[in-house]
Amino acid sequence: MKLNNIDPTTTEAWKKLDQHYKHSRDIQIKSLFAEDSKRAENFSKKWNDFLLDFSKNRITSETMELLLGLADELKLKDAIKKYFQGDEINETEGRAVLHTALRCKESDKVFVDGENVIPEVFEVRKHIKEFSESIIGGESKGYTGKKFTDIVNIGIGGSDLGPAMVTEALKFYKNHLNVHFVSNVDGDHVHEVLKTLNPETTLFVVVSKTFTTQETLSNATTIKKWFLEHASQKDIAKHFAAVSTNTEKIAEFGISDKNVFPMWDWVGGRFSLWSAVGLSIALAVGYENFNSMLQGAHEMDEHFKDTAFNENLPVLMALISIWYNNFYQAETEAIIPYTQYLSRFSAYLQQGIMESNGKSVGRNGKRVGYETGTIIWGEPGTNSQHAFFQLIHQGTKLIPTDFIGYKHSLHGDTDHHEKLMANFFAQTEALMNGKTVEEVIAELKEKNLSKEEVERLAPFKVFEGNKPTNSILIDKLTPKSLGSLIALYEHKIFVQGVIWNIFSFDQWGVELGKQLAGTILKDIQGSTISQHDSSTLRLLQYFKS
Ligand code: F6P
Repeated sequence: MKLNNIDPTTTEAWKKLDQHYKHSRDIQIKSLFAEDSKRAENFSKKWNDFLLDFSKNRITSETMELLLGLADELKLKDAIKKYFQGDEINETEGRAVLHTALRCKESDKVFVDGENVIPEVFEVRKHIKEFSESIIGGESKGYTGKKFTDIVNIGIGGSDLGPAMVTEALKFYKNHLNVHFVSNVDGDHVHEVLKTLNPETTLFVVVSKTFTTQETLSNATTIKKWFLEHASQKDIAKHFAAVSTNTEKIAEFGISDKNVFPMWDWVGGRFSLWSAVGLSIALAVGYENFNSMLQGAHEMDEHFKDTAFNENLPVLMALISIWYNNFYQAETEAIIPYTQYLSRFSAYLQQGIMESNGKSVGRNGKRVGYETGTIIWGEPGTNSQHAFFQLIHQGTKLIPTDFIGYKHSLHGDTDHHEKLMANFFAQTEALMNGKTVEEVIAELKEKNLSKEEVERLAPFKVFEGNKPTNSILIDKLTPKSLGSLIALYEHKIFVQGVIWNIFSFDQWGVELGKQLAGTILKDIQGSTISQHDSSTLRLLQYFKS
């Protein structure tokens, strides 16, 4: 069954939200705290080892009721059911969307075209387990009988960002294998990686759902050529593995059947790290840790599927974000993890969120008359504080920000961890409270500045405050809590797509550039240049000259 097709702006809830916004837009978060001594408690939710505190937002109980009403009116409950049961909700590609099935229990049943896909999922998981364990344990050896020391993941987009983000995030749990990622078609990327490798001890994992992606095939071909300069054709069977839906193309590339990991068209690239696309994760941290990550995601799935919306973490986060995006017209959201391990998290979510919800055509096939996908950016704290926090504090734009932090550090260095988290809490407090002109003047006077100096400097030192933040505080960065965190954002994406009445699971917007690059490559490699605008033509002539 299809998702409903309702323009959100035509709902009663939207109209009420519009009215509510008009008379509450100047609301001061700090006044809301002054009025309600239990605000922090009332506007936060505890789930497993997660605490989501969303009290530092420009929201009241009425705002939340209206947003929850919007979710009801847009039949979110029904959409969630269709999502989890494998209905063809990716309509423009005619596919189900079932990354959630990849983290199900073995006893679960999920049907695609009348067939339960869970046994197949577990067959592939078994293969991932056996394969990764034999590489880690050294039973599988390279062509000269040496144990593997290095793994290279060759993929791009969802076939790169997820595994790259997770292997960095779980570095603390890593084994002896060095994992490298080659994604860019820029030859400098692959050659920089190759120069550090020994072909005798390196395993290459080619990851491409379609096995037609230019970047991945070019990199895989270059690597194969390099490998064959040292080894022979038959050695490819030991040193190359592939993850794809396209088994025919894998065979053409020469990869042995034993090293082929299938995936399914009901798993979107940007949601695929739970499948064999995560093979490099299992290789880096071991199958048990990979499995714990899946377990953490599964627990978040159950929470999302079965919990009332007013207690439901992904739903709450999605609705608050819609409040800013569609009523305050905030265009971007920052995601700031207070852990260096999550340094690739916002890059990963940029694809997840922007490729999913960066759409301007509604499910009715017409251009939408409201804002959709938010622009996502971020870097770990505290580095980001010394880079772009100036703009969040004192710039002209409203930037709702998610702070993600942990109660315990992994290395147990409390001194560093206390300093790190002091910054987390200080930033959310500062963003909310700001600093009034009176406070600034009092501070400057204490420094014995002249009256003129105080007056001259004061305006530059004022912080308006009232900047919204969510705080996500998790006990510890473990494979399991990481799985839950990723799934939290995945479901936030889904909820927003439902509310915005768009198709979140296709990505036609990446096609045009690919098509044109094909033509232009012929222009670059050929003796003549085809027709282009005068700018592109001049650039091509200059490049070729
Ligand atoms: O950028 C578009 C895209 O199709 C992504 O959705 C996908 O993750 C990526 O390209 C890689 O595709 P593939 O896994 O088929 O090589």
